[in-house]
Formats: sequence, C-alpha cells, structure tokens
Amino acid sequence: MPDRGFTPTQLAARAAYLLRGNDLGTMTSAAPRLYPHMWSWDAAFVAIGLAPLSVERAVVELDTLLSAQWRNGMIPHIVFANGVDGYFPGPARWACRDLAAHAPLGMQTSGITQPPVHAIAVQKILDHSRRHGRTTRAIAEEFLDRRWPDLMRWHRWLANARDTGGNGRITLFHGWESGMDNSPRWDSTYARVVAGVVPAYTREDLVHVADASHRPSNREYDRYLWLLEEMKAARYEDAELAQSMSFAVEDVFVSAIFAMACEVLAIIGEDHSKPHSDVRELHHWAERFRKGVAQTADARSGAARDYDLRNDSWIQTETLAMFAPLICGGLDRETERALLRTFEGPKFCGHPDLRYAVPPSTSPVSRDFRPLEYWRGPVWPVMTWLFSWAFGRRGWAERAYLLRAEGLRQASDGSFAEYYQPFTGAPLGSMQQSWTAAAVLDWLG
Ligand code: SER
Repeated sequence: MPDRGFTPTQLAARAAYLLRGNDLGTMTSAAPRLYPHMWSWDAAFVAIGLAPLSVERAVVELDTLLSAQWRNGMIPHIVFANGVDGYFPGPARWACRDLAAHAPLGMQTSGITQPPVHAIAVQKILDHSRRHGRTTRAIAEEFLDRRWPDLMRWHRWLANARDTGGNGRITLFHGWESGMDNSPRWDSTYARVVAGVVPAYTREDLVHVADASHRPSNREYDRYLWLLEEMKAARYEDAELAQSMSFAVEDVFVSAIFAMACEVLAIIGEDHSKPHSDVRELHHWAERFRKGVAQTADARSGAARDYDLRNDSWIQTETLAMFAPLICGGLDRETERALLRTFEGPKFCGHPDLRYAVPPSTSPVSRDFRPLEYWRGPVWPVMTWLFSWAFGRRGWAERAYLLRAEGLRQASDGSFAEYYQPFTGAPLGSMQQSWTAAAVLDWLG
C-alpha cells in the first residue's frame, strides 16, 4: 500500500515505538517537545491507537484524563504533566487552581475545553477488549462502569453549559477549543477581539518547529493570550463566560462531533445496560445537535457554517467545517450527495495537485489557503482518520477505505508529523505527534 518508505508492518512497529517513547507513565505527551503534556482530544486519539496494543494502557490514558475533569463536568483541554516545563501558557498563566471554583484539586489543567471525541475511544477500548480473554474484558467493563457517570457529566456539561442558544450547537469561547487554532474560520471573530494589556510572555512553541511561519503568528498569539485574561476575569464561570467573552462562536464541527459522540455513547449504554434515562438523554442530545448542525447548512450545497454570536453573523469558509454534517448526518439525501461531491471533488480531496487524496484543512482554491500554515491549508492525518472512521460508521465503506489507504500512503514516510504540505507531502510542525501514530495504529490494527 505505501508508495515509498516503510511497509505496513514496519510502520505499525514504528508507531507503537513512538507512543512508547512519548509515554510519561500514566499519560502520553501529545508530542515530545512542542506539546509535552496531555491534550484532551489528543488523549482520546492516543487511546484509540493504544487499544490494539494494550487495552489496559488505553484505559489508563482515559483514566488520567478523566481524573482531571472539572467538577462542573468540563474535560479541560490540557492536563499538565508534573514537573514538565517548556510549554506556554503553562499552569501559572492559566491560574485555574487559584481562580476556578470547579477546577480539580489534584491536577493542574488549562481552563478551556476541546472537541468531544472521547466516546469513540471508549468504543474502541470495548471493541478491542472483546478480542481478548476474560481479564482484559473485565478491565474494560470495569472502566466503563466506573467512568460512565463522568462521561455523562461531560456530555451533560456540553449540552447545557455550552449550548448557550439552546439550538443544538456548541459555543466556544476560544479558538483553541475548536482544536483548529488559526483556521480561517475564526479570522473575522478574532479581528473583532480588541486585546487589552496582555501580561508579558515568551512563546515556547516557536523553538520546536523548523520554521516559525508554520505556526500561528504573534498577532494571533496576542489575541489567544488576551482571551485567557478575559476568562480569568470571569473566574472561568460558565454563565459569566457566556456574557463577557469577546470571542463567542457556535462551532458546527464540534457540534457534529458531539452529535456523533452522543450516539456512540448511547449505543454503548444500551449494550452495557446503563440507566435508560441516560441513554434516552444521549439520544435526545444526538438528535438535537444533528438538527442544529443541519440547520446551518446551505440548502443546495449542504456546506455547514459556524456562527459568530458577538457579531450575529454566519461564518462561511472553505474549510473542513463545511463537512460537519457528513460526520453526524441530518441532511436530506440529495444535499448530502452534493456535499460528498464537494468533499471528493477538486476543491478538496480531488484537487489535481494534491499528493494524496486526503482533505486539506482549508481548500486549495480558497483565497485563505496557505499550504504551510497550521490549520490554513495543511493536511492533518488525524482529520483524515476522523472522516474515514465517520464515513465507515455512516455506511460508506468504500469512501472510508480510500481515505484510510491514502492516509497510510501519506504516513508511510514514518515521520508521524503533526501536519503535511498538501502538494508535496512534506512533513510539517511537530514530528512524532502521538495522534498521527495512533491513527496509523488503528488503521493497521
Ligand atoms: N493547539 C494549541 C497550541 O498550539 C493549544 O492547544 O499550543
């Protein structure tokens, strides 16, 4: 399958070796130098990659993450590793322990959240455990029983505290919460954020990449850091954030992930005899958010949109966010077909100059497209994985297979990069990114 580089067996071995190397004991760093701590959605993908290697170790990963869950139900976007420096903003800058009433006592975390992909990891752990003997199955099931209330609290927090409009869409108060930090999706919103005095800071991220221009700019960072000051002034209180944050968007992609994750968790709940009321609630949320996502879509093209709550305006971009309804469903058949045609056509996976037929973060035909800049164009293997997995779930086996095959061809260079230049296939950002290895392990597992 790979067109160069490593064979699948070699690649799987290298991916496993990488995860072992990034293993700090009870958490896996997202990447060795650039991201030396645990990130929420990275941890979920890491657990997906660990599950075929060791169900037990995958369970530990999610246990660590859930041990840092806030008392209001939020899973924070970073869980800081003890005694590890080299990342900014670190715990002192977030100051959650001092300011946030809901922050956990034992662990240091950031004060924002990230996309709720964790139910997929839980499902993968349960699936893999069935291939093993009684002991491993018991570990997976004990984990589910123990953490079910926490998973419910997580989903409930998203559905209540973060659906501020009650319309089936998740509100974010920082671009980092989308996981797609500097995507053109957030340009107009950030342009309206008027940064006050940001306490002095030194960026650590630029030291760890080959070329600083592949990362968000200093101007962008000033705004990212200003939003932290706004959050601190609100003491990270949900109701207060909804009132005071100058960045407030309804993220259609996160909403689609949430709809899908609620459905996945509901099915797990049904299979494992969890309370009917929980399962009912999950189905209800899945339906509400599926509708919320579909309502944003253009009637003909099916392209989904984000919404800027501060400017009361739709945000229409040619980015992966367009394809949110493909993750969770909800469009009528004809519109869905139109959206699939866009996904597979020359604006995205079918662009004639792409090295591999995988979706770039921003369409190469968009004027916002920058082939080297983080979420403004590069291909992110973990997104290829997410679409491939979601398509498989939607019953589109051939599409899922093609994305997997192309994703593996790309990964066969063995760099496990964070993101790739879409035309040349050059690896960019951090090398040895845990979630890239995890995607490969799941594909080959
Ligand atoms: N992705 C952000 C970073 O680059 C923060 O989550 O550090």
